[in-house]
Amino acid sequence: MDNLSVDHLTGIEHLTKRDIEIIFETADSFKEVINRPIKKVPSLRDITIANLFFENSTRTRLSFELAEKRLSADVVNFSAASSSVKKGETLVDTVNNILSMKVDMVVMRHPNPGAAKFLSERVNARVINAGDGTHEHPTQALLDSYSIRERLGTVEGKKVVIVGDILHSRVALSNIYALQKQGAEVMVCGPTTLIPKYIHKLGIKVSHNLKEALEWCDVANMLRIQLERQDIKYFPSLREYTMLFGLDKKMLDELDKEIVVMHPGPINRGVEITSDVADSKQSIILNQVENGVAVRMAIIYLLASKIER
Ligand code: CP
Repeated sequence: MDNLSVDHLTGIEHLTKRDIEIIFETADSFKEVINRPIKKVPSLRDITIANLFFENSTRTRLSFELAEKRLSADVVNFSAASSSVKKGETLVDTVNNILSMKVDMVVMRHPNPGAAKFLSERVNARVINAGDGTHEHPTQALLDSYSIRERLGTVEGKKVVIVGDILHSRVALSNIYALQKQGAEVMVCGPTTLIPKYIHKLGIKVSHNLKEALEWCDVANMLRIQLERQDIKYFPSLREYTMLFGLDKKMLDELDKEIVVMHPGPINRGVEITSDVADSKQSIILNQVENGVAVRMAIIYLLASKIER
């Protein structure tokens, strides 16, 4: 079987274009499975997966757990808030203790950039990055691209603008890598203070004008303002941010084309996106969530097939 070039999914940066195609082709089969009356296959009955969440999550955590259960894997969940990490245990010690209970794969969300790669080099298990600080969120970017492919037929040649808090966003960096590897053009748009100074060196366009960005793009991926990661004030007020970078229905209707609207969630309705846009037929926000399960099933399945059993 054609399989991934990597043994762990720590970031999109390390994937090839073919890796992404293999994940999508495998996800197509699993999407068919999860729409059957019996949404389960016995593929991973002999695999145990630990979901380690050192940061809050709703979508990613539930999506991984569903994906694992639909592949018939045994699943254990770990939340930092209720763990011995609070008593001073190191990350590697925590994970090695879990692994000694015969766990084969670790899905980890962690506040520190590079935590997933660090772990993958130190433990005897497959590691999947479910978000590492402001660095990468590879499964989010893969489900985002998969959803563009589903709506527009292909990602290649499409123009995608990522709007908002690029500086604090792991979704933005993973999306930039994923979209570029598939031949899309990428722009980031937001206030000067929330766009990293040298981001254009990644070969992307930069705009500080939402109207101009919307006129350019086929797809607008609206990001949340990550107040929990902001140690200083990056703009005067949320009201002013919304006036300049919030997307409303009037702006969409004034365009001479119908663009696709995305959001990784959680949405702050009325801040980066109005309710009528989030719930419009141009929005694929809930398709992204649905596709997340199929894409995560594909990644887990492909990495599990590399485990010697
Ligand atoms: N998109 C995303 O990562 O959402 P959660 O933080 O709820 O997992």
